[in-house]
Amino acid sequence: MTILVTGATGTVGRQIVAQLVARGERVRALTRNPAAARLPASVEVACGDLSKPQSLAPALEGVTALHLITVGGDDQAALQTGPELVELAAKAGVTRVSVLSSWDESSVEEALRAGEIGWTQLLCVEFMANALEWAPSIREEGVVRVFGDNPGAVVHEADIAAVAVAALVSDGHAGESYLITGPETLTPAQRAQLIGEAIGREIRFEELSEAQYRASMEAWGAGEELIEFAVQLGANPPDAASVVLPTVEQVTGRPGHTFAQWAAEHAAAFRS
Ligand SMILES: NC(=O)c1ccc[n+]([C@@H]2O[C@H](COP(=O)([O-])OP(=O)(O)OC[C@H]3O[C@@H](n4cnc5c(N)ncnc54)[C@H](OP(=O)(O)O)[C@@H]3O)[C@@H](O)[C@H]2O)c1
Repeated sequence: MTILVTGATGTVGRQIVAQLVARGERVRALTRNPAAARLPASVEVACGDLSKPQSLAPALEGVTALHLITVGGDDQAALQTGPELVELAAKAGVTRVSVLSSWDESSVEEALRAGEIGWTQLLCVEFMANALEWAPSIREEGVVRVFGDNPGAVVHEADIAAVAVAALVSDGHAGESYLITGPETLTPAQRAQLIGEAIGREIRFEELSEAQYRASMEAWGAGEELIEFAVQLGANPPDAASVVLPTVEQVTGRPGHTFAQWAAEHAAAFRS
């Protein structure tokens, strides 16, 4: 049995690949650019683009389980190719699918809902890894600047991956829609403090005004739509963002990783 992981070079996908390899599963990893993929040697790397479904046909040969992402390209646009991807997967003999959904549903979830393959939806609000965006200002100035110091139950990407792996290798997850959050609720200021503890440096926390935040995103080159989305998220995060849920423990049998653990693992990224 071969498991195909799409988004395999991404934050969550790399963890899924690593965990499947550790279990001794046969893994094929999809990327648009195999030369830059930096995947483990035991992983078969397949070239393909989710926005060009036919490019996935060779990668799907012999595949029985499939992990899918739902956005593609540098602008993270929702994939329009769900029906073709699901049809190809069904033809190839895929029997289990896990889907890492984005903020809005895409044609991928729609096509899976209309099809016959058993699939599991993974819904997340905020990854711990988003704190890597703070790495440059922490390294250079010892400061974190954030718009909206709202509490969030951020989730470790290894825990999202562990839920995906359970859905890919075992029965009992088809038809489930798992909302996955982390084991504690922390504001960005508290997360900044935990990063400071991990690297042994005091980190200042500065809350940006909306105007400052908009200006910083513009300077970084973000488009109008992304800026609007980020401002709304900072000002009015969804209620689900701050709710600690037992999903990780229920599905994997162990509690989710804490932010302190995540910060210790990623300390090198924050050290100057
Ligand atoms: N960050 C958060 O807090 C958060 C919260 C909820 C949901 N999410 C969702 O989680 C999903 C995954 O995020 P991530 O952070 O793990 O990913 P990521 O680190 O941003 O990586 C993106 C991945 O997508 C692949 N990719 C992009 N376009 C592709 C295409 N056209 N065809 C094939 N592969 C393509 C890239 O592969 P190659 O470049 O190697 O081809 C890469 O592996 C996203 O849908 C995001 O919206 C994120």
